[in-house]
Amino acid sequence: MSELAKPFLKWAGGKSSIAPILIDNLPNQFNNYFEPMVGAGALFLNVIQNVDGHRKFFIGDINKDLISTYKVIKNNLSALKIYLSKYENKYLAYKNEDREKFFYSIRSQEPKTVVEIAARFIFLNKTCFNGLYRVNRKGHFNVPHGKYVSPKIFDENNLNKIAILLKKVHFNTADVKTNSQLAQSNDFVYLDPPFYPISKTASFTSYTSKKFGEGEQLKLKLVIDELTKKQVYVMLSNSDHPWIIGAYQASGYKLQIVKARRSLSSNVSSRGKVNELVITNYHLID
Ligand SMILES: C[S@@+](CC[C@H](N)C(=O)[O-])C[C@H]1O[C@@H](n2cnc3c(N)ncnc32)[C@H](O)[C@@H]1O
Repeated sequence: MSELAKPFLKWAGGKSSIAPILIDNLPNQFNNYFEPMVGAGALFLNVIQNVDGHRKFFIGDINKDLISTYKVIKNNLSALKIYLSKYENKYLAYKNEDREKFFYSIRSQEPKTVVEIAARFIFLNKTCFNGLYRVNRKGHFNVPHGKYVSPKIFDENNLNKIAILLKKVHFNTADVKTNSQLAQSNDFVYLDPPFYPISKTASFTSYTSKKFGEGEQLKLKLVIDELTKKQVYVMLSNSDHPWIIGAYQASGYKLQIVKARRSLSSNVSSRGKVNELVITNYHLID
């Protein structure tokens, strides 16, 4: 059997390493699948391929270019392929400074068409430092060049598989609250926010030009409380931090610790396995 589709991006906090554990912790049954903070969508891709795929999938993120890229893969893959193969051929043919120049020339562009935006998004993700996504206050991508020897910028086989899967997926760029509120009783919502920082230096919360601070964590908890009242199944990933433990334990949620691989840490010594929390509300609903 051919291999399953995998995320087409590297993404800080990506859930590939623990997707099988998350799959084991899905509710026994649910209607539609919602993932309003999708990033590279490791769990979403697992569910759509491994769990009954007949349900509807509602996918969102606050990152406009990210959601636009998913839509281009879904609706306009052949045009995207032309750009990606051109970028890959050029980049791989260059050496050292020329690669760097090419990277910064693409980074400084402000493309207007959705296909060009998607091609630039994937190219920068594959060639920037650690595959990070970070923008400055003006919303301009500012991660430096990554110096990988042979990055796979154009993975045609994987993109073909993803495009087929995305045909039945609904996408929306919006804040987590707006997209979560679309879920109805018996639907399932998976939430994977920027984590509550374990230490001052460990924080990586700049996926967007706005920080995801304690106020945002609290607002997210209120969204989850509302979903629980509506009988919507929720699974939340977050860091194993006393603030998170206190907030969710006090409201009767179920907490468990899982070990995840921290693949995008810029600090080599902090790579390896870290504890994180999986928080669910199913017992409050059934
Ligand atoms: C930890 S990442 C998700 C990683 C994903 N589970 C994966 O496997 O790749 C968090 C995501 O939340 C998104 N995000 C941050 N603030 C948000 C908000 N207020 N509403 C919706 N999405 C948000 C970020 O753009 C980012 O893609």
